[in-house]
Amino acid sequence: MIKKMERQHLEECAMLHYSSIENSFLCDIGIFFIKKIYEGLIESEDCAGYIYLDNSEIVGFITGSKDMGKFINHIILKNFLVFTVYVGFKIFIKPYLMKNVFEALFSSKKRGIDNTTAELVSIAVKSNQRGNGIGKKLFNELVVFFKENNISKFKVMVGKDNIGANKFYESLGFNFNFTANLYGQDMNIYTYICTAKKEE
Ligand SMILES: CC(C)(COP(=O)(O)OP(=O)(O)OC[C@H]1O[C@@H](n2cnc3c(N)ncnc32)[C@H](O)[C@@H]1OP(=O)(O)O)[C@@H](O)C(=O)NCCC(=O)NCCS
Repeated sequence: MIKKMERQHLEECAMLHYSSIENSFLCDIGIFFIKKIYEGLIESEDCAGYIYLDNSEIVGFITGSKDMGKFINHIILKNFLVFTVYVGFKIFIKPYLMKNVFEALFSSKKRGIDNTTAELVSIAVKSNQRGNGIGKKLFNELVVFFKENNISKFKVMVGKDNIGANKFYESLGFNFNFTANLYGQDMNIYTYICTAKKEE
């Protein structure tokens, strides 16, 4: 069963993100930071988050934003003090993160595609539940959200080495655009055109 992501789901979703989306910039910063991002996402009218429940256990989730750049600015301003102290401490113990933080803040051009602001931010399904169509169902729910908000096109960024996720996006009909070096790794950038057809 698919439900909207709510406050009580944040901890579980952050843990699932942390254990599933390896080598990501957010994982490097830590679970506290991931949780704060998802908290901002579910509070924003421009964003959406959905979970997939199996016997009241969260086995997958998806998040998206109508305007990722605007969302990042909003979340940083809202949590400015907490983020400065927390991220500052993380950079102190892992100095290589400095470059990644700057890229996250100032590299929107590097990952930009014409005027596409909407983005599939993250998706994860528990490893023992993959291959059962859960990711596709979550994806279809996000497409409905975008269509209801008159978004005709959105993008996704995924590690080039993440073969499974690249195949997942290709099978859903995403078009590959280009590869950019971001956060110390090659990231593939894809776009998806929301068709008029109701998602299956
Ligand atoms: C990517 C992910 C969300 C896919 O979820 P899933 O529930 O396993 O995907 P589904 O079962 O709905 O598969 C949908 C389609 O993608 C294809 N697909 C999914 N994973 C695949 C893989 N590893 N290899 C090849 N094809 C794959 C399926 O074959 C299916 O195609 P079909 O509709 O033509 O049959 C899941 O593998 C995952 O959580 N990965 C780790 C987290 C991650 O990397 N997230 C993306 C980074 S943002």
